Amino acid sequence: MKEYHIAVIPGDGIGMEVMPEGIKALQAAQARVGTFQLRFEEFPWGTEFYLKTGRMMPEDGLKILEKFDAIYLGAVGMPALAPDNITLWGLLLPIRKSFQQYINLRPIRLLPGLEGPLKGKGPDDINFVCVRENSEGEYAGAGGRVHVDTEHEVAIQTSVFTRHAVERVMRFSFEMARKSAKKKLTSVTKSNACQYSMVFWDEVFAQLTKQYPDVQTDKWHIDSMCARFVTKPEALDVVVASNLFADILTDLGGAIQGSLGTPPSANLNPERKYPSMFEPVHGSAPDIYGKKISNPIATVWAGAMMLDWLGEASAAKLVMDGLIAYTQAGKHLTPDLRGTASTVEAGDAIVEKLVNW
Ligand code: NAD
Ligand code: IPM
Ligand code: MN
Repeated sequence: MKEYHIAVIPGDGIGMEVMPEGIKALQAAQARVGTFQLRFEEFPWGTEFYLKTGRMMPEDGLKILEKFDAIYLGAVGMPALAPDNITLWGLLLPIRKSFQQYINLRPIRLLPGLEGPLKGKGPDDINFVCVRENSEGEYAGAGGRVHVDTEHEVAIQTSVFTRHAVERVMRFSFEMARKSAKKKLTSVTKSNACQYSMVFWDEVFAQLTKQYPDVQTDKWHIDSMCARFVTKPEALDVVVASNLFADILTDLGGAIQGSLGTPPSANLNPERKYPSMFEPVHGSAPDIYGKKISNPIATVWAGAMMLDWLGEASAAKLVMDGLIAYTQAGKHLTPDLRGTASTVEAGDAIVEKLVNW
């Protein structure tokens, strides 16, 4: 039987609540399909670990993770206990960067049965995917502080856009669009103000457009794209954007699909030289952590994306079908979706649908 070794990092806050529900759903799918085995190994890395050891993960953490087939992550960050820039640059961001997970796939889809906040927009209108550049741009980590603690203090955070990285994320997006029903790719820019980085981004996009005559393209400035997410989501199919732009857009995506508790995220190393990482879009939600009401949908959905990536398409479909049967039934939803269920009750209801589907 095929075996997949999955590194599980629940991390912080509600990451620790939703991760068991994700694992539960994947185990149910595995039992039903019966042709593969998931071997989960859990790592207690995160802010608690940092407070005890001074590190978010051990020094050889990346070496340990490198051997796994995939990484399943909850959330990282507990700003009341340690600064976000320390915790995120100690665990999540080094994994994305070191493992060259330069594609971040973030589907935005109103699941059938769920009510989004947009009047008159249903599951057919809100169904597209955002491809996030995940290796550089505004997250390149280039910069510094000068004249620290003086009145002349300067902070510099430089964006880095390389032809190599911009071209590969756009090429990936064109290929995705080529295979989609609408065959449409939208580029998100801000070339009216960012006269170097975003003009360059537009130029690369224009160059590639010529190589994909079968794909319909358009481009929108990030500000008007935010409005378009709300006013005309049905016009979107595949959306490609820089690291920070797509970060912001995909929280908005979560909102229009009903709750930030629902969208998943796949950090992919397309060459498969390193493990890819699957996680919800949301964070550790300190405001609700401990109440046990966090929504497990995003984590279960991320698990389905992981199965798909591992080559277990029918198991992935089973998880998605179960999830959709659960949202369609509309029972046992968590409070962010106007239900009253706890995280575990929601997870149980998803498994129940998945098993009986
Ligand atoms: P957040 O995503 O944690 O929470 C934003 C809002 O959405 C909160 O009101 C929260 O209660 C709600 N929410 C999020 N997930 C939910 C779920 N599953 N069910 C129900 N409600 C949910 O964003 P934030 O408050 O800006 O960040 C909190 C911490 O998480 C910070 O440390 C931040 O840096 C970190 N963060 C980590 C990741 C990650 O690990 N990938 C992602 C985003 C934020
Ligand atoms: C996300 C998160 C991270 C990001 C943070 C926590 C660094 O917001 O995965 O969307 O900005 O990439
Ligand atoms: Mn984000």
